[in-house]
Amino acid sequence: MSDVSVMEKPIIPATGDTVLELSGVVRRFQQAGAVLEVLRGAACSVRRGEIVALVGPSGAGKSTLLHIAGLLEHADGGVIRIDGRDAATLDDAGRTALRRETIGFVYQFHHLLPEFSAEENIILPQMIAGVSKAAARERARELLAQVGLAARGSHRPARLSGGEQQRVAIARALANRPSLLIADEPTGNLDHHTSDDVFALLTRLVRGSGTGPGGRKDGFGALVATHNLDLAARMDRVVELRDGVLVES
Ligand SMILES: Nc1ncnc2c1ncn2[C@@H]1O[C@H](COP(=O)(O)OP(=O)(O)O)[C@@H](O)[C@H]1O
Ligand SMILES: [Mg+2]
Repeated sequence: MSDVSVMEKPIIPATGDTVLELSGVVRRFQQAGAVLEVLRGAACSVRRGEIVALVGPSGAGKSTLLHIAGLLEHADGGVIRIDGRDAATLDDAGRTALRRETIGFVYQFHHLLPEFSAEENIILPQMIAGVSKAAARERARELLAQVGLAARGSHRPARLSGGEQQRVAIARALANRPSLLIADEPTGNLDHHTSDDVFALLTRLVRGSGTGPGGRKDGFGALVATHNLDLAARMDRVVELRDGVLVES
């Protein structure tokens, strides 16, 4: 997995095909009677075929930003555009639909369903989206192969290592062909070597996306929060959350 080819620049040239656009994003919380302004006009964009690292110290607001970008949480101000669609124009049902159609999530802890196999965990979100079981299974097997787990499809999460669990979580996040992959410290629970492998995999998947039979429509961009600056430096760009705004570093 430490193949140097994964560190090459994107295969798909970034052509202004923006999958995430944030501008002027504001988010405030009430804390102990005071107002804490975590985001004060954050802006960034992510294009198809591009992987962007989001860094910043603990408490800087990375998770808050990712939840807003992923339409899981409302901002108090600013523009959030996913795949060219402005989230502000949508009601809750519209936001949910846009999230299901365009966004895949990976969390620090895998959140796989423990009573289902790896393959079933990847099949389920597709069936919820209306895909037939046969087609969902085929897609799940293809994804398991892409994440290097073709032989592990029948295993339940508890029988997989931490790194393998995150690979399955990545495959599940990609099951419905999102335009945007959001990952919140996806290797935060993994050892150094395994983190390296998972990041190399993520990078390879993003940069190689859109080159298969589905062509550009399968291309996706990724925004990945991490503490690890070495790993961040291997992404296409690094944005840092500093005092509530994003600074390209
Ligand atoms: N729902 C909430 N209510 C109040 N404060 C919150 C809430 N969510 C996050 N915060 C605060 O916002 C700040 C940023 O949190 P977070 O986005 O989790 O940072 P990070 O992911 O960079 O560690 C922290 O000070 C946190 O306590
Ligand atoms: Mg966080």
